[in-house]
Amino acid sequence: MPATLQTALDYRVLMTGEETPAEYSGDRLDARETCALLEQGGILYFPKTPFTLAPEEGAFLLNQRQADSGRHKNISYKAAQHKISGAHTDDTSTLYRIMEDYCRQTGQFIDTFLSPYKGHWELDYGSFRPLEEKNRAMRLRARNDLLHVDSFPTRATGGKRILRVFTNISPDILRIWNTSETFEQLLDRFQSQMKPPKTSWLSTRPAYDRWMMQFHNHLKENRRFQERGLKNRWEFPPGSSWLVYTDFVSHAVLSGQYALEQTFLIDQTHQVMPEKAPINLLASAYR
Ligand code: SIN
Ligand code: FE
Repeated sequence: MPATLQTALDYRVLMTGEETPAEYSGDRLDARETCALLEQGGILYFPKTPFTLAPEEGAFLLNQRQADSGRHKNISYKAAQHKISGAHTDDTSTLYRIMEDYCRQTGQFIDTFLSPYKGHWELDYGSFRPLEEKNRAMRLRARNDLLHVDSFPTRATGGKRILRVFTNISPDILRIWNTSETFEQLLDRFQSQMKPPKTSWLSTRPAYDRWMMQFHNHLKENRRFQERGLKNRWEFPPGSSWLVYTDFVSHAVLSGQYALEQTFLIDQTHQVMPEKAPINLLASAYR
């Protein structure tokens, strides 16, 4: 990737958690400042994706169908297991190759563009999301059209931050999100309604994931918050990409079809602002 990447790309950081969201133009930011804004609830937004998808690869993806959508939320790419799950295809190897390539490009991009994280991330799953998000029939706790911060029921992060890279590969449909307050604001708002963790945070990291899962559920089940909480609406057009810490930015996808996504886990010790990591915010909240 060229060294001029940072200046050659048109991007901005859109702040969440505010009535009138602040916006920072990329040409005024260095990598460290960009990371700091992301860690505080920014969405790093590229109107034109920095990732390459050949036309025939795009066409291939638009033709993919998902296996039983009751069992699989998306098509998943599991790098560590060299595996794709949830796809209904007779050409798994092409699908695997395309998702592996997106994973490789996004990882390389983080190393170059968000250089404070270079070499400090772990790969989690990637996904391809071929279904229209509007009116998807899902269990309440699995619904992505309700505001939430991410926590994975199937895998613990142990306090690592969840950074996700999305690309809207639909030829013609916007992907529409709402965001609400940040994890920091929501913790302050709802702490009194949450059960404290049973054990001290930093000594038992599984306690972190249990609490985060409960918080995720608490937000989705809170009708008042869903109806009346702060909402900022974002429209991500076809061909755009965005990066976001989904453990900190509360979000809901309202509509859209065909997105690629790759998840990275980053330990709080490699954050520019570790004090904003949920595990550290929780440690002070329950001191
Ligand atoms: C989510 O992480 O809640 C879903 C976001 C999306 O698919 O756009
Ligand atoms: Fe989510």
